[in-house]
Order: sequence, then structure tokens, then C-alpha cells
Amino acid sequence: MSTSTLTQQVREAKHVVVFTGAGASAESGIPTFRDSLTGLWKRFDPAQLATSEAFRADPALCWGWYEWRRLKVLQAQPNAAHLAIAELAKHVPRLTVVTQNVDDLHERAGSRDVIHLHGSLHSPRCIDCGLAYPLPLTSDALPEDGCRIEPPRCTACNGYVRPGVVWFGEMLPEDAWSAGLAAAEECDVFLSIGTSGIVYPAAELPLRALGQGAVVVHVNPVLFDVSNQEHFLQGSASVMMESLLRESFGDLPAS
Ligand code: APR
Repeated sequence: MSTSTLTQQVREAKHVVVFTGAGASAESGIPTFRDSLTGLWKRFDPAQLATSEAFRADPALCWGWYEWRRLKVLQAQPNAAHLAIAELAKHVPRLTVVTQNVDDLHERAGSRDVIHLHGSLHSPRCIDCGLAYPLPLTSDALPEDGCRIEPPRCTACNGYVRPGVVWFGEMLPEDAWSAGLAAAEECDVFLSIGTSGIVYPAAELPLRALGQGAVVVHVNPVLFDVSNQEHFLQGSASVMMESLLRESFGDLPAS
């Protein structure tokens, strides 16, 4: 599809879905999931850390890893892709952000009602009774390479507090999945940004959108195979989203 056709379809869309993966936060300095991890985490396969078994086997190691990630997010800023996505919402009748990311950078860029398919680093809860942990998390200065941290205890049942993210092997939050699926089934344009598209069921969403006739566009610096009905904008999320916004709606004042 030509860029002018795409920009026209974005302009005419009634409902745009923006589906993001770790690549959307990469330019904020947040390591993507399958980048080589640094420091203490070099020795571990993240898929081994992001499991309830890993947490129960070594709560301090697992909690330390998530605190390291949470503090990296707190130190990061939304990048131009997050800002362009938030700006795009002002120019289309309806825009739904569905993210696999557990950071809050979309929200901090101004996106609203973000659907977090894989939970959030900012919603810890008790691993036993499920109660949301109400107290501020106190690990405010960690060594650059991270460290083990004893998780806090639940204020109600004294169980371990776990990260509010979806671990491998766990179900996605039912309300998030239903909302993400409904948006994919109903949109006119589906922008898939910065995801390797290998983790299901999240990776099913672009296929659902394509199946109902939406225009599906992948944004990624790394080209990968897609069907001949899908489109590919090869480049970084920030460059591609800024140019799509500009070419669709003209030069916009810096927000
Ligand atoms: N702009 C756009 N895409 C980028 C950029 C960038 N600047 N930098 C990297 N990417 C792309 C990579 O090429 C890769 O395709 O982002 C993608 C990141 O892929 P993953 O690391 O696999 O992350 P993601 O697709 O979000 O993983 C999905 O798997 O590990 C679980 O729960 C975790 O939510 C995560 C899910």
C-alpha cells in the first residue's frame, strides 16, 4: 500500500487500534524483552524469571528483577512514538491503545484507558490473597546491575507481594483481553508497533483485525514476513509514528 493510501485510511478511520510491544518503549531506554539483558540478569533467561515458579523458588531474585525494571521505567521518559500515539487520538474519532508492555509510558504521554494485556509493573498484589499492595514500594536506589530484594508482605495475610504482571503460563486479565479483542474485531485500522508477534494470545489480535477487514500495519526496524494483505513500515516506532501523524494530519504543533 502506498503511504498516501495509508494516510488517507487513517484520516477516514472511525476507530484506530494501536497495539504495542516492547519496541515502542525501546527508544525510552527500556530493554526489549528479547534484547540481551544486562548485569545481574545476564545469567538468567527472562522467561525463567517471569514465572510464578521462579518467584516461589527465589522471591528475592524475582522481585529484585522486577524492581530493577520498575525503577528503569520511573527513570525513563515517554518517547516520540508514545507522544505521537497520544496526539493521534486527538485526530481520529476513536483510538484504542492495547499494549503488551508493563510500563506506564503510554499513560505518561497522555494516552487514556490503555489496555494492559500483560499487566503493569505499577500494580503489585499479594500472591496468596490477591489484595493490591497499598503501600509505596521503597526500593528507590538499586545498583545499576540490579540486586536481590526481599519482597514486601501483604498487609492483610502476610503473603508475599508479587509484581502485577502476567507471567508465562498465566491467563491474561479477562477484562483486558475482552476489551483488546473487541477493539481488534471492530477497528478500521490496526497499527502493530514494536512487537515480535511471537507471544500468544496477544499476537492473535492483528490477525483478528485482518480477518474482519481492517487495514493492518506493522511498524518495526526489523523486517519480518507478513501476509500480502498486511503492510509494513520498516523503521523505528518514533520515526514512523511521527511521519504517519504528520502525513495524515499535517504539521502539528509540538504537544
Ligand atoms: N521501534 C520499533 N520496534 C522496535 C524498536 C524500535 N525502536 N526496537 C526494537 N523493536 C522491535 C524488535 O525488532 C522486536 O521485533 O520490537 C520488538 C520487541 O520484541 P520483543 O522483545 O519480543 O517484545 P514483545 O514483542 O513486546 O514481547 C511480547 O512477550 O516476553 C513476553 O510479556 C512479554 O509483553 C512481552 C511479550
